[in-house]
Amino acid sequence: MSNYHIKHLEEYWQVYRRSVRNPENFWEEIAEEHFLWRKRWDKVLSWDFSKPEVKWYEGAQLNITENCIDRHLATRADKTAILFEPNDPAEATQHITYRQLYERVCRFANVLAEQGVGKGDRVCIYLPMIPELAVSLLACARLGAVHSVVFAGFSATALATRINDCDCKLVICSDGSYRGSKTIDLKAIVDKALEECPGVETSLVVKRTGGQVTMQGGRDKWLQPLLDAADAQRDATIVDAEDPLFVLYTSGSTGKPKGMVHTTGGYMVYTAYTFKNAFQYRENDVYWCTADIGWITGHSYIVYGPLANGATTVMFEGVPSYPDYGRFWEIVEKHKVTQFYTAPTAIRALAKENLDFVNKHDLSSLKVLGTVGEPINEEAWHWYNENVGKKNSPIIDTWWQTETGGIMISPIPYSTPTIPTFATLPMPGIQPVLMDENGKEIKGNGVEGRLAIKFPWPSIARTIYGNHERYRDTYFSAYPGTYFTGDGALRDAVGYYRITGRVDDVIIVSGHNLGTAPIEDAINEHPAVAESAIVGYPHDIKGNALYGYVTLKETGEGRDQDNLRNEINQLITDRIGPIAKLQKIQFTAGLPKTRSGKIMRRILRKIAGKDTSNLGDISTLLNPEVVQAIMDESLA
Ligand code: WT7
Repeated sequence: MSNYHIKHLEEYWQVYRRSVRNPENFWEEIAEEHFLWRKRWDKVLSWDFSKPEVKWYEGAQLNITENCIDRHLATRADKTAILFEPNDPAEATQHITYRQLYERVCRFANVLAEQGVGKGDRVCIYLPMIPELAVSLLACARLGAVHSVVFAGFSATALATRINDCDCKLVICSDGSYRGSKTIDLKAIVDKALEECPGVETSLVVKRTGGQVTMQGGRDKWLQPLLDAADAQRDATIVDAEDPLFVLYTSGSTGKPKGMVHTTGGYMVYTAYTFKNAFQYRENDVYWCTADIGWITGHSYIVYGPLANGATTVMFEGVPSYPDYGRFWEIVEKHKVTQFYTAPTAIRALAKENLDFVNKHDLSSLKVLGTVGEPINEEAWHWYNENVGKKNSPIIDTWWQTETGGIMISPIPYSTPTIPTFATLPMPGIQPVLMDENGKEIKGNGVEGRLAIKFPWPSIARTIYGNHERYRDTYFSAYPGTYFTGDGALRDAVGYYRITGRVDDVIIVSGHNLGTAPIEDAINEHPAVAESAIVGYPHDIKGNALYGYVTLKETGEGRDQDNLRNEINQLITDRIGPIAKLQKIQFTAGLPKTRSGKIMRRILRKIAGKDTSNLGDISTLLNPEVVQAIMDESLA
């Protein structure tokens, strides 16, 4: 028991030391005391990072929805599980109790089963932030089916790529979605995607906006009548702890998106444990994470972590600026939110608006403020601390990744003293190390290097769907024997970690992880474009924005540059989504390349960031003369 809920710093250190000295014991105790297993494990952990292979709770059997729903029915049946706050503040809030959630998940699972979905089948979910989204994840899990949620801001092409990559046979979508004052025709995007997805037999359509849609006979079915006809009870399919729970795509520095595979038992234990501790969750708290369930933050800390703890979790359909910039704080006041978890980019955007938007609301219910997704700059941290937390709510700067499944480095609020821009200390069971460029561990404090983790934790992704080799190459080859995160970090004099940012070609824009390769591929489809390179540069709200260097073919040379810019951004919107649009596009005669033909993004990054004092050695380039030319024409 004592390990499950940390309440002060000394206790953190005790628990942490124990978790490192004997990880198997530590995670066994937590698994034993707090979850419902249908069969106990034979072995807590087996692992080999060289293969790589990691198995937690091998031999154990369970269903995660029994842990997130059924077992709460005895004591929390009438407690709100999901508190749904619609886009339009005039539309009523929905309080979905644990009993209602149970019934909705069972009905949905029965519908999926009728449509032929069974254990191990992949189901794509492309939905806005409405209750059916959470319900559909759980309905898949009830059947042992594997959900693959695609963020509903991705384009038809991006959706099709993800559906095909993991062979989904069924898609769950909606007619449309609301986003602030806009209505988006989601079904039309799905229709377009499905033209390229021969494997999809069925699409189930949730009615949300009531907009015009085309239903394709034999394939498309309205969900509601099927739910109405379905039984409100369904036994959970019992799965192995190491059976996959979901696939979730994330960008890589090269190539197509990676379908990270998370398994059931370890993921459940770790998300539940970290939810409890990082948010200091207590019964009757009202917890709100503003992320979209289309990202890992939503999977782990809107759905699974909170529900495994029997919590009330808020789902918000809208955006922070609608109907005005006070919307977040209005919701906090209305529902007396106790834990609030958001992204630095949202904080920076809100900090630019009039303080009245914050000050006119009673935020005294708040106890813990969280951030995630990118480094939080000092200014934003102070604004959050002073104006939202009134210096009374500790800020937890939580570092983690799609691949890690759960929070890895974070203060324990009310235990760990916080410092702006520091994620501070590892969660129990997490063993971070800093590596130098030669692959040697950098020991001691007051040092900086590349962040790796040297011991497995229960929610580490087990593979990349359909490409285990890529999984090994991406995460386990840079520093053999460790998991490499792709981030740089420093460890200060007291051992606190500060994440300094990506050290690869992944760019984080407004907290969204974007790989350069798919964006460049989209740009290069333009008939006038010869070649392109994307880099990130500092942006005061987005954290980073995208800067594109584009060389044109002869045919493009006479063209109006603003028109070309618009066409390029339209292509990116079509192929990936509006989140990947370029902030600046510079047309240039050439791109700096190494003798082996590799584009030197390092130099382009410096020029885009107006940091050209030290470009390093450019004499080894194939074409050093282009560097000066690019600097001369670089955009104001
Ligand atoms: C990358 C992972 C994990 C949920 C959302 C992002 C960056 C994440 C922090 C933080 C500095 C952070 C890292 C990481 N990142 N949290 N608190 N401080 N950087 O998941 O899309 O898989 O992105 O986001 O660079 O590697 P993701």
